[in-house]
Amino acid sequence: MTMRTPITVHVNDAIGLIRPELHGHFLEHLGTATYGGIWVGRTSLIPNIDGLRASAVEFLRALAVPVLRWPGGCFADAYHWRDGIGPPDQRPHTVNHTWGGTIEDNGFGTHEFMHLCSLIGARPYVAANMGSGSPSEVRDWVEYCNLPGGSTLAALRIAHGAREPFGVRYWGIGNESWACGGNMTPEEYAAHYARFSTFVPTCGGTTPYLIAVGPNNNDTDWTRRFFTALATGRMFTPRIHGFAMHYYSWGRCAPTRYTPDAIRSQFASFDGMEHAIIEQRAYLNMFAERAGIPPIDLLVDEWGTWDLSEQETEDAHGLFWQQNTLRDAVAAALGLNLFHRQADKLGMCNLAQIVNVLHASLLTSGEACLRTPTYHTLMLMQEHRNRTAVRIASPLSPSRELSVSASRDDRTVVVTCANPDPEVTRTIRMQLAGASIGAVTGEEIADADPNACNTVADPGRIVPHAVTPVVAGDSIVATMPPLSILHLRITIP
Ligand code: AHR
Repeated sequence: MTMRTPITVHVNDAIGLIRPELHGHFLEHLGTATYGGIWVGRTSLIPNIDGLRASAVEFLRALAVPVLRWPGGCFADAYHWRDGIGPPDQRPHTVNHTWGGTIEDNGFGTHEFMHLCSLIGARPYVAANMGSGSPSEVRDWVEYCNLPGGSTLAALRIAHGAREPFGVRYWGIGNESWACGGNMTPEEYAAHYARFSTFVPTCGGTTPYLIAVGPNNNDTDWTRRFFTALATGRMFTPRIHGFAMHYYSWGRCAPTRYTPDAIRSQFASFDGMEHAIIEQRAYLNMFAERAGIPPIDLLVDEWGTWDLSEQETEDAHGLFWQQNTLRDAVAAALGLNLFHRQADKLGMCNLAQIVNVLHASLLTSGEACLRTPTYHTLMLMQEHRNRTAVRIASPLSPSRELSVSASRDDRTVVVTCANPDPEVTRTIRMQLAGASIGAVTGEEIADADPNACNTVADPGRIVPHAVTPVVAGDSIVATMPPLSILHLRITIP
């Protein structure tokens, strides 16, 4: 079935800056994301840079990861940072009780994470342990990371090889405190948040940016009760800069067995996420105004596809390892497109997770490290960063029929379209309101099989291909196959 669709890009109708942080990532001690994925260890035969998988570092550097959240997730509320510093052979072996009881030798700790961030150019975002830790443990971690010198903790960091402070700005206070992070009510979390955040110090020149646990999906009850409790009966309103919701796109099939209906039903969640962002943003504005504090950023610090697990696959590759298909590439475009459309409402978004877990950008198998279809979507869409998102007029539902985002600078308009339907071919006729169309170049990601993926035997099956869109009068005309992405670059003379 082929459908024709008009789209108008309103070049002079600005939404806001597309902050690079909207393209952020997340790494947890879970399955083979950290151990066996990004971290292979210094003595591994797999080529590595001080224990970090060299191929993954190279691919992630090219992806220009703007910000990386670590060490969890749920694991964050069980992690004691002192276990992961000092000479590797003297670090304790601990049990990852959060995720499968695996034994960790703590070879990957604070220094290794900071090293990874500096190699790939990412800003670190550390999720601190509130669930089973203490305010002083968090305070000490901040001091260890950020104080230039003079204290015993700063001296310890220097003794462990980091003369310069790490300058970590983003600090999360717990994770999913409504569930794995302590099973708290919003009122209980607000009390803990107030206490923990009070003790987070400013060290050196780094003022911490404090991130509170936000709702699961669009749980407005959590948001309302948390902010009411935070603002009531205290001498000072606690410092809070970011409020992080989690919004996953659950699927009912194993990754490579999706039917058209199952794809449509998974993608419907992106409508839900966009609605949640709009509603939660309005709540945050209201609460900040009532409390007389500066506006609070809304973050989506975990998002992505979450498919049905297969025991055999998890036994072979680790917990929550899921194959990444063309469907995931399109899902990534649906997510980034909606973040661009809501760029004025968001501070950061982190795709879960960067390697080997859930909606991964890289998958590893022994020595091999594959760039997934999702990786290629993210590479294409990098081009929107640090540009102004502009409004689109389209008669279609963005997550079910046609998803579009556009951005501009002085010379170009960049547009990403995703056709989320696995059965409908769409011919788009795109016009620019406010500018004329100059040269147009583009790339497409597509395949006849919605479950197609990149494998060690065929690592380049899903990659972008150059396309030559037709310019007919004042319109660009392009035909998008089912489940495909079209990324266009238009010069505006
Ligand atoms: O990303 C996997 C898990 O999903 C995270 O640890 C947790 O925060 C969420 O429930």
